[in-house]
Amino acid sequence: MTTAIRYYTKFGHSAQMAEVVGQVVGAKPMTVDVPVSEPVDVLYLGTGVLFGRIHKEMEHYIRTLTPDKVKRVVCFGSCAIIPSPVPQMSKLLSSQGIAVDQRSFTCRGAMGPLHKGHPDKQDLDNLRKFIQTTI
Ligand SMILES: Cc1cc2nc3c(=O)[nH]c(=O)nc-3n(C[C@H](O)[C@H](O)[C@H](O)COP(=O)(O)O)c2cc1C
Repeated sequence: MTTAIRYYTKFGHSAQMAEVVGQVVGAKPMTVDVPVSEPVDVLYLGTGVLFGRIHKEMEHYIRTLTPDKVKRVVCFGSCAIIPSPVPQMSKLLSSQGIAVDQRSFTCRGAMGPLHKGHPDKQDLDNLRKFIQTTI
C-alpha cells in the first residue's frame, strides 16, 4: 500500500501532528507545496483553521487532487474554537470525487492563551493511536 502525508501549518501544530503520522505510517510528511506525483492508496491530510476557515493553501491543494491520483484520504487537524477543520476538508474532497475515510482526528490547537500548549503530548499520543487504526 502506498501512503503519502501532506499538511499546511501556520503555527507549527499540523507539522507536529504530521511528524507523528509519519512515524506511524513510515512516510515522510511534506507540505502542500509538494504535489502527489505518483498515485497513492492513502493520503493523510492535515491542517489548522484561521478565522473560521481551513488554511487557504490547503483549500487550493485539495482542488488539485483527483480520484485517479488518490484512492482515499484520512483527515487530521487542530483548531481552537470550531469543533474541527475536517468537515470543511471532507466537503471539498468529496466535491473533487475523492473518497474520504469516515475516520478522522481532531484536537485542540492553541490560539494565544486559549488551549495553550495544545497539541500536547496527550493529543499526540491520541493521534498516534488513531493513525494505527487506519493502516
Ligand atoms: C490568529 C489566529 C486565528 C485563529 N482563528 C481560529 C478560528 O477562527 N477558529 C478556530 O477554531 N481556531 C482558530 N485558531 C486556532 C488555530 O486553528 C490552531 O492554532 C491550529 O492548531 C493551527 O494549526 P497550524 O499551526 O497547523 O496552522 C486561530 C489561531 C490564531 C493564532
